[in-house]
Amino acid sequence: MIKGYKKIIDDTLVKYFDEILENKNHIFARKTIESMKYTTCLGGKRLRAILCLESCKIFSGDYFPAIPSACALEMLHAQSLIHDDLPSMDNDDLRRGKPSNHKVFGEAIAVLAGDALISLGAQIIIEKTQDTIDKKRVLSAVKEYLKAAGIYGIVGGQTADIEAELRTNLRNDPDFLYYIQQYKTGALFVASCLIGGILGGADNKQLLNLEEFAKNFGIAFQMADDILDVISTTEEMGKTVGKDLFENKLTNVNKYGLEVAKQKLNSQIEKTCDILKSADIESSVFAEIINSIKKRIF
Ligand code: IPE
Ligand code: IPE
Ligand code: MG
Ligand code: MG
Ligand code: MG
Repeated sequence: MIKGYKKIIDDTLVKYFDEILENKNHIFARKTIESMKYTTCLGGKRLRAILCLESCKIFSGDYFPAIPSACALEMLHAQSLIHDDLPSMDNDDLRRGKPSNHKVFGEAIAVLAGDALISLGAQIIIEKTQDTIDKKRVLSAVKEYLKAAGIYGIVGGQTADIEAELRTNLRNDPDFLYYIQQYKTGALFVASCLIGGILGGADNKQLLNLEEFAKNFGIAFQMADDILDVISTTEEMGKTVGKDLFENKLTNVNKYGLEVAKQKLNSQIEKTCDILKSADIESSVFAEIINSIKKRIF
């Protein structure tokens, strides 16, 4: 199922970008469109899209209505990666096994491509969902997308992540690391599950359960990413590892050491599984994704 979902997303994203590239009105903006396509279509695990499709299927039996939104979420994710890699942010030259966006297209185009990906994603959710799904649900889906993109989401978390490198007084606040994990990473997972659930017809209580699951899964995911930065290899990750320590990033590993960070991850994964159980959400796809994190670390 996961492989099937991934292929649908990979193919649909290529189709969306090729449609724009074929549009003769935009020949003078071609470089930015190619830059948008480059990082988004380089691959990646497509976890946010898969969670969106599965969340829709859980409540409606069908994932099809969520395909455009799942692609939009991958566009927003690609934007966050492009901007995260910029010299003024994490200064990373490698992403998804290839040179980072700004290494290929230059910084100016990388900034523009990121900006354009955010708005294209929102446009696609509206354009490609409004004829099949109740308009109120489409509006809610777009609201969740925009929330995740901005100060209530990735921008908020990334701000704290960058601030934490220098503002050592803030690092002792126990809520600070939690804020970083919850917003720079958790927010997009929350949007992914909520948008899927919204389009699948979930009720308010079911959406609250999904949100709680996604938030905690996102925190676990970032905890794992921070551990992998220490125990994995550049080849395996497709991005340069070992830099979080050097850059003085506020992570569990840097704050508590590797062993305690692993224990904290283990408890966070257990918490995530407990939320699913008590919400009566049964999904082999969710279970497989959670297990894939466990397998990489333990
Ligand atoms: C990388 O996310 C950014 C983080 C939130 C740690 P992924 O590990 O999901 O990246 P891709 O999409 O598979 O490349
Ligand atoms: C990921 O944080 C958060 C994003 C919004 C991209 P990282 O900076 O740890 O992600 P990687 O390790 O570069 O993928
Ligand atoms: Mg970063
Ligand atoms: Mg980074
Ligand atoms: Mg990282």
